[in-house]
Amino acid sequence: MTPPAIDMSSTTTATTTEDKPKNVGFRVGLGDITPNNLGQLKRLNTVLFPVVYAPGFYKDVLEVGEFAKIIYFNDVCVGAVCCRKEPAAGSATEQNLYIATLGVLAPYRRLGLGSEMLKHILEQANLPVVAGQPKIVKLYLHVQSNNEEALEFYKKHGFEVTEKCENYYPQFEVSDAFKLEKIVN
Ligand SMILES: CC(C)(COP(=O)(O)OP(=O)(O)OC[C@H]1O[C@@H](n2cnc3c(N)ncnc32)[C@H](O)[C@@H]1OP(=O)(O)O)[C@@H](O)C(=O)NCCC(=O)NCCS
Repeated sequence: MTPPAIDMSSTTTATTTEDKPKNVGFRVGLGDITPNNLGQLKRLNTVLFPVVYAPGFYKDVLEVGEFAKIIYFNDVCVGAVCCRKEPAAGSATEQNLYIATLGVLAPYRRLGLGSEMLKHILEQANLPVVAGQPKIVKLYLHVQSNNEEALEFYKKHGFEVTEKCENYYPQFEVSDAFKLEKIVN
């Protein structure tokens, strides 16, 4: 069965004028996460992240709509992003978006696929607010302090390190994390 990929090869946009899209000529597309491909997402996350996510994580992923996506490269599922909405402290009209996981399988990195997923999340976060719904004002995430690739990736996309969280991952030898944030809207 053909995955629900959209051909983005001619519409890929660059983050800055110096950047050139690297996935032009390939079929790159984002797909919804559904009960039918949840198993693929679990396998991806097992390969990509040292953290084991509880069943509740995957239940929530199915509820978050456009804020969780799988990315296809030439119809092969090679990465995914999963976010969750959280209330913003002290505000009933604002919320934050936490990027829980965003990853691309190693052979498919540096092709702009991570950027495609992040661009989609940013576009969705910046959509006009639906009446009665809180607006998203901040995207944030944690990155293990030795994860240079991810730190470079998020800095490239305008995220700033706002905190060093000591022993954030007590189960790992490198247990510290950096918190990164990007203000939107
Ligand atoms: C971080 C990650 C998602 C980046 O995905 P990607 O598809 O390779 O990223 P892109 O190709 O869109 O890279 C965009 C920019 O980010 C920066 N970047 C990405 N990987 C980098 C690396 N290894 N070293 C330095 N800069 C890097 C570069 O500025 C790059 O632009 P360039 O290729 O034109 O120089 C990927 O490395 C990954 O899946 N890592 C494992 C999972 C993880 O740690 N996720 C983050 C925590 S949620």
